[in-house]
Amino acid sequence: MAAIQISNVQKSYQSAGKKLQALGGVSLAIEEGEFFGLLGPNGAGKTTLISIIAGLNRADSGQVLVQGHDVVRDYRAARSKLGVVPQELVFDPFFTVRETLRLQSGYFGIKNNDAWIDEVMENLDLTNKADANMRALSGGMKRRVLVAQALVHKPPVIILDEPTAGVDVELRQTLWKFISRLNREGHTIVLTTHYLEEAQALCNRVAMLKAGKVVALDTMSALIKRISGSQMKVQLAQSALSAPLPSSLHNLIIPADTQAEANSFALRITNYAEVEPILANLRQAGCVVEDLQLQQADLEDVFLQIMGGGNPQ
Ligand SMILES: Nc1ncnc2c1ncn2[C@@H]1O[C@H](COP(=O)(O)OP(=O)(O)O)[C@@H](O)[C@H]1O
Ligand SMILES: [Mg+2]
Repeated sequence: MAAIQISNVQKSYQSAGKKLQALGGVSLAIEEGEFFGLLGPNGAGKTTLISIIAGLNRADSGQVLVQGHDVVRDYRAARSKLGVVPQELVFDPFFTVRETLRLQSGYFGIKNNDAWIDEVMENLDLTNKADANMRALSGGMKRRVLVAQALVHKPPVIILDEPTAGVDVELRQTLWKFISRLNREGHTIVLTTHYLEEAQALCNRVAMLKAGKVVALDTMSALIKRISGSQMKVQLAQSALSAPLPSSLHNLIIPADTQAEANSFALRITNYAEVEPILANLRQAGCVVEDLQLQQADLEDVFLQIMGGGNPQ
């Protein structure tokens, strides 16, 4: 049984009298124990999909099961299996951190949850804020409480919607250490983030959404292998002694979306054995190489290729 089974989910919004399709028939299964990345530019439909999984929003058609429980017909059972860290900071300002976490436990019908609440606060470096009022906390601290709130009932499936947007490096590290531990202990993790290097380091499998459709669904390693994209960056000296890039190498140039330095070129290579002949070619053409870098393709390259250029959000 999948941790989350999403079948042909469609969702449109009415916006200024127009129909806007946020999800155009999304199907995917997230298996038990996965660390799954849900990626895509702003507006791709990630938050809409998550709010449908969490039962906070209704799909127009299609079905979502969480550990076999339908999120509409069997809402309470489905919800009890899920911990959701929302993208927006929402909380009641009048409670302390500990009160907030106790209330959330009560919502799930859990009494005497203090040992676990203490452990969660400890792992998120919240212990010394336990008795502070929510309204007195910084944005980063509130974000930690949102994470803690999602975890009070030890949900087997944990969804984090942009949990590290605008948070400092320290919180990111604390958070990923704890979430990785929970994943090792068997919890399924679904993460959306626009920090692609973060997704690359953490996720075993990835779905990419674009305009409400799944445009890629694969393991991280297969996605990265899919693009034969290592590159070699050469910076040629700008002196009169140095010739321009020979035309024999022009077909290797990777067009840059930002204006790089003059005389700096990114060349496509499929393996490192191609470096030597390129250098020989440059030398024969009279180019003076000032700087040289080899770069392997990463998730960002894949993302840009799949999304068809532009900056990842
Ligand atoms: N409550 C809403 N009313 C109208 N349009 C919405 C609403 N929520 C989201 N949208 C639109 O649906 C699309 C998907 O949004 P969202 O799910 O938030 O994407 P993401 O989380 O990937 O950035 C966007 O075009 C967004 O403007
Ligand atoms: Mg979103």
